[in-house]
Amino acid sequence: MQRTTRDYLRHISTAEASVTAMSFPAAAYQSGVGDAVDQTAVFHRSWQLVAHLSQLQRTGDHVVHEVAGQPVIVVNTGEGIRAFHNVCRHRAGPLAFENGHAKTLMCKYHGWNYHLNGQLKSAPEMHTTAGFDVCDHRLPEVRLDSWQGLVFIALQADVPPISELFTGIEDRIQPIELSNMTFQRRDEFIINCNWKVYVENYLEGYHLPHVHPGLNQLLDYKSYQTELSQWHSYQFSPLDQGGDFYGEGQAHYYFIYPNTMLNILPNRLQTNQVLPMKNNQTRVIFDYFYPEFDGREDFIKQDLAFSDEVQDEDIMICEAVQKGLDSGSYHQGQLCYKREQAVWHFQELVRTAYRQLLNSK
Ligand code: FES
Ligand SMILES: [Fe+2]
Repeated sequence: MQRTTRDYLRHISTAEASVTAMSFPAAAYQSGVGDAVDQTAVFHRSWQLVAHLSQLQRTGDHVVHEVAGQPVIVVNTGEGIRAFHNVCRHRAGPLAFENGHAKTLMCKYHGWNYHLNGQLKSAPEMHTTAGFDVCDHRLPEVRLDSWQGLVFIALQADVPPISELFTGIEDRIQPIELSNMTFQRRDEFIINCNWKVYVENYLEGYHLPHVHPGLNQLLDYKSYQTELSQWHSYQFSPLDQGGDFYGEGQAHYYFIYPNTMLNILPNRLQTNQVLPMKNNQTRVIFDYFYPEFDGREDFIKQDLAFSDEVQDEDIMICEAVQKGLDSGSYHQGQLCYKREQAVWHFQELVRTAYRQLLNSK
C-alpha cells in the first residue's frame, strides 16, 4: 500500500468520533487518495442494489449496472436470477449496453454468444483457431441475493448475509410489501460533491426547516426520529398534512449501508443509489416503484413533481457544502446528538471499513 493511502486511512479512521461526536475531517471529502480507498474498502465490500424483480420478470430480461467501476449484468436465466461480470471473455467487450430482453447474451464487440447461464454457446469464425473450445469459456459470476423484491450484488465474499442488513424492516413497514411494487421510472442526477456529502445530508432531518420548507410542512419535524441498527439507520416521521396526498400512515426513510436509500410511503417506494464518480462528482439514481391502486397516474405525477423539488434543494446544499469543505477554512465540526446520530453511525461504519483495509495490508 502506498504511504499516502495508509496516511489517509489512519487520519480518517482514528478520529475520535465515538467520544466527541465530531464529523469526519474535511480530507475525507476530497478527491484523490480517498477515492480508491472508498472503492476498495466500502464499495467492493458491501451489498449494492442493482434491480427490482419487477424488471426481471421474463426469461431473458436483464439489467446492467456498474459497481465500483465493475460492469455487471443481472439476468433472468429461466432457472433463477443470476449476476455476471458484463465483460466478454474474448477481448472484454460488453454483453449489453442497457437493460433489455434477449434469448442469449451476445457480445456487442465481435458477437461471441453466451447462454443466459453465462456459458459460451458460439463464437463466429473461431472454429479454425487452434485450441479453442466454447466449453472452456463462461462469464464469471457475481454473488447475488434479494430482499422484498430488491436485488443486490456483492463483489467480494466477505460481506454479511443480506438478511442482516434488513433486520426488523419487514415488520416495521407492514402492511407495505415492497415486492408488490413495480418499476415505473428512473431519474439520474450528477452532483458536484463527494458521495459521502450526499449520504450524510440524507441521514439527518436537522436541515429540514432550513432547506426544505415544503417538505417540512408535510412532516412533523418535532416527532421526526432516528433509530440505528447494525447495518442500517431509520428515520421516520408521521405524515402531518399528508392525508390527502400520500395517504395516512408514516414516511419510512431507510439508509442501508453504504449507499442505498429506501424511501417508503404507503403508496410508493423510491430507491436512491449514491455512486461516486471521478473528480468528486456523485451519480445519484432515483428509481420509482408503485403498487396498483385507483388514481395511480395522478398520484405518480404529483409524487414526481414534489420529489424533484426536494432533490433540487438537496443538490444545492450539498454542492455548497462541498465548496465549504474544499475551502481550507474548515477542518471538522461537532455533530448534533439529537438530530445527527445517523451521520455518526454512517461515519462509524466507514471508519470500521477503513480500519479493516488498514489491517489487511
Ligand atoms: S470482445 Fe466479445 S466478442 Fe470480442
Ligand atoms: Fe434534504
